[in-house]
This record gives sequence, structure tokens and C-alpha cells, in this order.
Amino acid sequence: MTKKTFYIKTFGCQMNERDSEIMSQSLRLHGYDEARAMESADLVIINTCSIRAKAEQKVMSLLGMMRKEKLLRPELKICVAGCVAQQEGEQLLSRMPHVDFIVGTQNIYNILALLKKDKSNRRVVTSMSDTYAIPRFIPDASGSAPSAKDASSSLRPFKKFVTIMQGCNNFCTYCIVPYTRGREISRNKSDIIDEVKVLVDHGVKEITLLGQNVNSYAIANRVTQDGSPYSFPQLLREVAEIEGLKRLRFTTSHPKDLSEDLMRCFRDIDILCHQIHLPVQAGSDLILQEMNRKYTIEKYLQKVADLRAYCPDIAITTDMIVGFPGETDQDFEQTINLLEHVRYDGSFSFKYSDRPGTKSTELPQKVDEKIKAERLCRFQTLQNMISLEKNSAFVGKSLKIMVESRGEDGLQGRSEYNHVVHIDAKSSYIPGDIIDVFIVHAGEHSLQAREI
Ligand code: SAH
Ligand code: SF4
Ligand code: F3S
Repeated sequence: MTKKTFYIKTFGCQMNERDSEIMSQSLRLHGYDEARAMESADLVIINTCSIRAKAEQKVMSLLGMMRKEKLLRPELKICVAGCVAQQEGEQLLSRMPHVDFIVGTQNIYNILALLKKDKSNRRVVTSMSDTYAIPRFIPDASGSAPSAKDASSSLRPFKKFVTIMQGCNNFCTYCIVPYTRGREISRNKSDIIDEVKVLVDHGVKEITLLGQNVNSYAIANRVTQDGSPYSFPQLLREVAEIEGLKRLRFTTSHPKDLSEDLMRCFRDIDILCHQIHLPVQAGSDLILQEMNRKYTIEKYLQKVADLRAYCPDIAITTDMIVGFPGETDQDFEQTINLLEHVRYDGSFSFKYSDRPGTKSTELPQKVDEKIKAERLCRFQTLQNMISLEKNSAFVGKSLKIMVESRGEDGLQGRSEYNHVVHIDAKSSYIPGDIIDVFIVHAGEHSLQAREI
């Protein structure tokens, strides 16, 4: 009997990528094979994102297109997972009747139960609980291998995300994540350590610890067996001790919870890369207050200064929203001032987008689309200029690069500061090797180098 096959299409953030890996591993453990293309799969899972209206539209248009596929192949099973699934639940079935199953963000571990035809024939599982515990699930070699569709990558995985917490308690007024991912739940410390050890045993060299706000790891629920106080910096230190691990990163940090203890880790932990993503979202105190971010620009800048005191070469990146309701020209000028002051190494910037059920949707004074587009363009132009200037400072210097892939004209790798580096090299390095290179050219988004 031929095995059933599945295909997962993932939208959104690293959380979703990690969740897709978990679903993939569960399916493979239970006799499914991964299909190379959506068209040949018996089961298609769409893991969805709802962070901005555009992200949701992308999901909806793909789902709409799958209607035809289902007509051609009625035996095809379509499953919607992730944040749109959680947000829409049953409603999605009435809009998209060709969808077979809906799996919420706290239910991905139950995907197999849903696929098995049980007596209740339940098609929608989106229950969420504030006391949800992330199940112990340690990937084996197959779970940590790259997916079949990525045939170009080496069979040996060399970098991985490890989820340490999920959900968010911050309720920034623009954000849908607290509704789609539920309350903050930290994963058991020993599960995290075991997972990293298994991954490192399978050749993984770089780990990124993942959560919506890693700084509040262990604060919301008890994660140690004895319930004693525990913190994210403690976890970082323990993970860094794992033999064979070469690089450690984490994302994302909420500025309000960035402690001195965490800053000290950049100074004290050898393998912790000198790089932090510290989303600020706006440069105006008034807008930050409306966003419920719980810090002022003065406090934020103090944290940036402290970080740089502990770790002078740290690369800092951020997320920025332009055109939040009520954002005036003056507010936006403060965003530009902030960018000029901090001189971020890079940033992700977005036009504000109304999300269903969030507080800011109710705010009057929505900013005109054209003004949002102009502000975004101005912000991004300045950011690109700063990125280029900062990257240019590396020209003529040497850097340690972790090799990530090889192509026809050399290698591609990453610096500890998270630059993408193209390397002119003939040697037969494999992904995960760390090599010394000499930087010869800088662009806005990458560096060029030659082997030393
Ligand atoms: N937990 C992360 C953010 C995850 S969402 C953090 O707090 O840093 C990623 C980014 O999407 C956010 O930082 C924000 O800049 C952007 N974003 C979230 N909701 C948005 C909205 N309604 N409109 C525009 N951008 C949004
Ligand atoms: Fe969203 Fe704010 Fe939570 Fe980040 S901290 S996920 S922006 S609510
Ligand atoms: Fe998107 Fe959900 Fe991540 S909304 S950004 S997939 S947490």
C-alpha cells in the first residue's frame, strides 16, 4: 500500500515555521510521507498568518484557489492551521466550504487525532486555555531534517529555532497575536534543554530561542519542577553550556522587559551572537502610549545605551509601524529622529493595518493610505542609507562567518551580527562550518567577502 502524502504551506513568523515542523514530524511519525508539491499531496495544510490585513488576504486567495483543486480531486483533504484558523474558526468553513479541517494554534499537537475519522467527525478544533501546557515533544533526526521540498540544502541541518514560550500577555492595541496565540505559556526548561541537546547531537550548530517576548520567559507560569524563580538569562546560560553548540541567538524582546541581567549575557556568554531585535514600533511617546507599549522613548534610549555599554559592537534591529491612528506629521518626525539617533543596523517597517477585535481598530483619526505610504517610503529610504553606512564600516575587516549554503559562484553565510555574507570561496566547506573571511564590499542588505 502506498503511503499517504502531505504538503504544508507556511505563512507568517518563525512560530508558524516551527509549528509546521512539529506537524510535519507528527505526520511522518504516523506513516505519512512529505510530498514534493501541493498538487501531488493527499493532505494539504495551510499554516496561516493574520498579523496584517495583507497577510490574511494572501491566505484567503490561496484558499480560494484551492476550491478548483478540490473539485478536480475530491479525495484531497485541506486543513487550515495557524492564526487565521484560530481567529476565524467555524466561520471559515462557511466562507470556504471546501476546507476539511481547522486547527487552532494550541491544537497542532492533536492534528493526527483530527485526521482520524472519529465518531464525532469533528472538523474544527480551536479550543484555547490559559493553563495550556506545551506538550513534551522532542524532535528526532527526521524531525530536525530539512524538508523534502528544499532539495538544494544539505541533508545535515545546521541551524534551528527552538520555541521556549508561546502566546503573549502584552495586548499592544494594534496586535492580533494575543487573540490568536492566547496567553503567555513558557515551555518546561528540561524539555528545552533536551531538545537543544538532541539537535546538537544531530549536527545543529546554531540555535535561536523563540517566543513573542522571550524576556518574560518563566514569569507567567511555573516552569521548573520545584516552582523556584527562574529567568530567561538563566535559561540562556544553561543552553550556552551545551557542548557542541557554536552560536546562540534569541528573538523577540519586548523593550519593557529587557533586564540588565540579560544585557550582561551579551558580555558574558561567548557563543551568544552580538545581535538583538528590539522592536520599538514608534518614535513618539503619545503614540507609544496609545499602542500600550509601556515605555517612553527616554526609557527605550536608556536601554539601548546600556546595551551598548555592555556590548559595544552589538547590532540592533527593530520593527516600526507608520501611520498608527492619530499619528501626526510631528509624531512621525519623532520616528525619523529616533532612527537617526539609534541608527539601527536594519529594521522591518509596516503600514498600520486594522485587525479584527483589536483596540486600535476602534480609534478615530485613521491615517490616509497615501500618507502611510509616503511615511513608510521615507523611513525605509533613511534606514537603507544607515544600513549601507553601517555595513560599509566592515569593508577591509575580517569577520567570522557561519556557512549556510553553497551555490555556483561561492558560499553564502551569516555573520554573528546577522549580515548575509556572499563569499568567493573554492574550498569545500559545509553548512555549519565557521570560517574567517575578509569583507570586500558592502550593500544595504548584505556583504561580500573573500576567504582568508
Ligand atoms: N512579538 C513581537 C511582534 C510580533 S508581530 C514583538 O512584540 O516584538 C511582528 C511585527 O508586526 C510587530 O513588531 C509590529 O511591528 C507589526 N505589526 C503587528 N500588528 C500590526 C498591525 N496591526 N499593523 C501593522 N503592523 C503590525
Ligand atoms: Fe503583539 Fe505586542 Fe505581543 Fe508583540 S508584544 S506579540 S506586538 S501584543
Ligand atoms: Fe502571523 Fe500569527 Fe506569527 S499572526 S506573525 S503567524 S503569531
